[in-house]
Amino acid sequence: MIRLDPFPDATRVAPTPPAAGGFAPPAECAPDELARYRARLEAVCGLAEELPRQCDADTLNVALVRHVQRVLAADVLYVESGGTWRPVGTGPDAPFANRVPLENLRKALAAHCAAARRERRVLVPVQAPAERALLAGHSALLAPLPTADGSPRTLVVLRQADSPAFDDQDVRIVSALLRYAAPALRTVAMSARLQRIAVQMVSALVNAIDAKDDYTSSHSARVAELARRTARELGLPPREQQAVEWSGLLHDIGKIGVPEQVLNKPGLLTRSETAAMQRHTLIGHEMLRPVAQFAPVLDAVLYHHENDDGSGYPHGLRRAEIPPSARIIHVADIFDALTTHRPYRRAYDCETALAMLRVDAGRITDPAVTAAFELALRRYRTRERESFVLRFAHLLEPGPAAAGRSLGS
Ligand SMILES: [Fe+2]
Repeated sequence: MIRLDPFPDATRVAPTPPAAGGFAPPAECAPDELARYRARLEAVCGLAEELPRQCDADTLNVALVRHVQRVLAADVLYVESGGTWRPVGTGPDAPFANRVPLENLRKALAAHCAAARRERRVLVPVQAPAERALLAGHSALLAPLPTADGSPRTLVVLRQADSPAFDDQDVRIVSALLRYAAPALRTVAMSARLQRIAVQMVSALVNAIDAKDDYTSSHSARVAELARRTARELGLPPREQQAVEWSGLLHDIGKIGVPEQVLNKPGLLTRSETAAMQRHTLIGHEMLRPVAQFAPVLDAVLYHHENDDGSGYPHGLRRAEIPPSARIIHVADIFDALTTHRPYRRAYDCETALAMLRVDAGRITDPAVTAAFELALRRYRTRERESFVLRFAHLLEPGPAAAGRSLGS
């Protein structure tokens, strides 16, 4: 937390040298002026403190506009971009809109906005008499906004006619706020770009494996969706829900290293083919381990075939030893396998597959995770019908009877 040094008693303040920001009080300064300076310093420090907490460009811009509005005691703010004017901050009230219609703002300030952008500086335009009439005496301050995509935008700040007009101090404080915001915005934009690249990479990897395996087309995406909903049902925080979703997308990525004749063999696998297939957990883990961004998914990739009773692979872990994300993926993975067609059997219907999961909860899957999965699935099916039908229409179709069957039978 940034703290301001205790401000001296305004009635006994000694002159202070100008600060680097250029808005330190002059030697002779009235108490109310000192209060204004302090408010400005607090605005800059407040923004500097708040910016690192913002993780996207929109919220960062909202924070910037809020600080500008507060420190300038502005009445109305707009963002002008390519001839479009959008109210921001608290927005204009009805009396203002009556006094100064949007068309008047455009006529009076469009050229000045272009100048502020062209000259890349905050300015208080000298208003010609006609412009002053269009603005009903409001003073204006124009600031070229930093943007993540480089698109030209101008923040237009207006103050009522009966308030003091904007001055050089106002220009300096807004310039200081923008200087703080610009690098933060660049960092946010870079982070968003890296995130997009990571998602594209994940998608490319997932598509590669889905394309290789005839029977797992879209399997990873379905597992990801159901696993994320299960994680939410279990009360995991959003960051872990996201990790579980990515784990669903990537859980079978190691199948890229399994021979296609094994992957797509229509009949039962031999012992050596089974061993080759089971190696996909180890292969996937080794593939993703060197990439730091994939650290949150490694457990699920390696352990999503571990069984509750220790009979799974690759390490034969038991329930408490199996990471929670792997237990979630395990349930969603089995459910999706049961409810999709295989070369050796038809897909089971939704209720049959859920019953089979219940029978083997505590042996194959974690009972608590299995129950949460079922709740999440039912909630999804009843409360988000359209989305459910779009992605899981096959779950509404009838399947072969399998009363009393377990996962192992
Ligand atoms: Fe798998």
